[in-house]
Amino acid sequence: MRGPVAALKIVGLARASCRRAESCICLQPLGLFLCRKYQLMSRTLVKAALNATAPADTIFLQGWVRTRRDAKAFSFIELNDGSCLKGLQIIIDATLPDYAQVARAGTGASVEVHGKLVASKGGGQKWEVVAEKFTVLGEADATYPLQKKGHTLEFLREIAHLRPRSNLFGAVFRVRSRLAYAVHQFFQAKEFCYVHTPIITASDAEGAGDMFRVTTLDLATPPKNEQGEVDHRQDFFGKKAFLTVSGQLEAEIFATALSNVYTFGPTFRAENSHTSRHASEFWMIEPEVAFCDLAGNMDLAEEFVKYLIRDAIQHCAGDLEFFSKFVDPELLTRLNFVLDRPFQRCSYTAAVEILNNSGKTWEHPVAWGDNLQSEHERYLTEEHFKCPVTVFNYPRAIKAFYMRQNEGCAAGRETVAAMDLLVPGIGEIIGGSQREERLEQLRAGMMLHHLEEKNYWWYLDLRRYGTVPHAGFGLGFERMLMFITGVANIRDVIPFARTPGTAEF
Ligand code: 4AD
Ligand code: MG
Repeated sequence: MRGPVAALKIVGLARASCRRAESCICLQPLGLFLCRKYQLMSRTLVKAALNATAPADTIFLQGWVRTRRDAKAFSFIELNDGSCLKGLQIIIDATLPDYAQVARAGTGASVEVHGKLVASKGGGQKWEVVAEKFTVLGEADATYPLQKKGHTLEFLREIAHLRPRSNLFGAVFRVRSRLAYAVHQFFQAKEFCYVHTPIITASDAEGAGDMFRVTTLDLATPPKNEQGEVDHRQDFFGKKAFLTVSGQLEAEIFATALSNVYTFGPTFRAENSHTSRHASEFWMIEPEVAFCDLAGNMDLAEEFVKYLIRDAIQHCAGDLEFFSKFVDPELLTRLNFVLDRPFQRCSYTAAVEILNNSGKTWEHPVAWGDNLQSEHERYLTEEHFKCPVTVFNYPRAIKAFYMRQNEGCAAGRETVAAMDLLVPGIGEIIGGSQREERLEQLRAGMMLHHLEEKNYWWYLDLRRYGTVPHAGFGLGFERMLMFITGVANIRDVIPFARTPGTAEF
């Protein structure tokens, strides 16, 4: 009996001494431990300390040393905990019993500080902390690669495990987090249902074939069928499986039941593209709307993009200011400009005419029926329209099988109700379409793209049972982040970039 009683006593003590005991899980012998852990959580974040409206007699902070400066009678430490761009200045008096620890608190070390929050005597900051207790939790040895001097983005990519501690990447990933939240807010406020579409799939949503294989077969000695080919019936899923390129087809299933849905998840493309805008793994937001046509789809895309920009301007002001100072001086002007004006809309046919009348010499000359290349997209949005532009009604042959065939096209000029939203500095950030809801036309589209119906039987069923006009699009989350931050390379807006030849970390 002694054991449990003793434990209960400890729990009782812990509860009594813990100010916010109601949130602690104390009803077990571990109670003391959990309460202590909770106490650690009563720390003040640097962001909150910097925004304080009054001094405080006690404050507890934890974070990493950005810089340290030693004077005769005291040391200054700039403490950053990632909660915001700025650090908080800590003053540690040489008479403090803990002062001996300061020598171990070099750039990159983790520390904790108990002290007072006081009005700063120096310029440049409103508040600073006078330390009363100072502890080094983890030293950073002399090889710590992040020093005060600037580093190239290429170098920082090689230390992707440490780069979130730099000003730039701290800012990028705070904005990324906020924007992910804003995506959900936008759609949830409109009563869209969030659907988790699968990451492993057997169907190629884009019909383009650039998919990563998922297999557990032994590649050295795979099982063979009667024809001597690899026998995928013996693979993990009993058939060929891949990482998804898009959640769209599955989102359509849910749109034809729940009306308005969206997916937001990682997607994978095995294209061998070595550009600053392509990643092999990227995140995509894909709304799918029943009873909606191409015009409604374009309206939703424009509203969504503007919402995200407005949200970032409102909630990430400090970080955006940093980007406009150190990454792209035009950033805030451009974002505000985009917010203030309606996006332009231009048919593919008109776009080709504009390109051919531009007087430019293109690296890839463009004729009706050709895919628009990056140089064409950039010209349209940056030089011709000078604002975001949605190009719509593309030639049927160059777009995906599921896009709705337009009626009344001239012979040899068949188009589909596709749309691409192009923005300055990047080009395409959204691709979407009205979907082909008519069974026979969908089958014809599949035939045109050499797709086998048996692989899409369930997709065809949606057209057999209560089909409705519907439309949707995909926004590349990283491309949107590039647009909002001004960061020019997709590798620098995703925590761990996967590109051809690179999958470190
Ligand atoms: O134009 P995409 O290929 O469209 C689709 O996948 C549709 N199924 C979407 C839909 O209608 N639900 O891709 C959509 C967007 C592009 O506009 C681009 O922003 C982004 O996804 N994207 C990429 N981003 C980074 N790296 C890549 N390799 C990308 N490929 C597409
Ligand atoms: Mg596209």
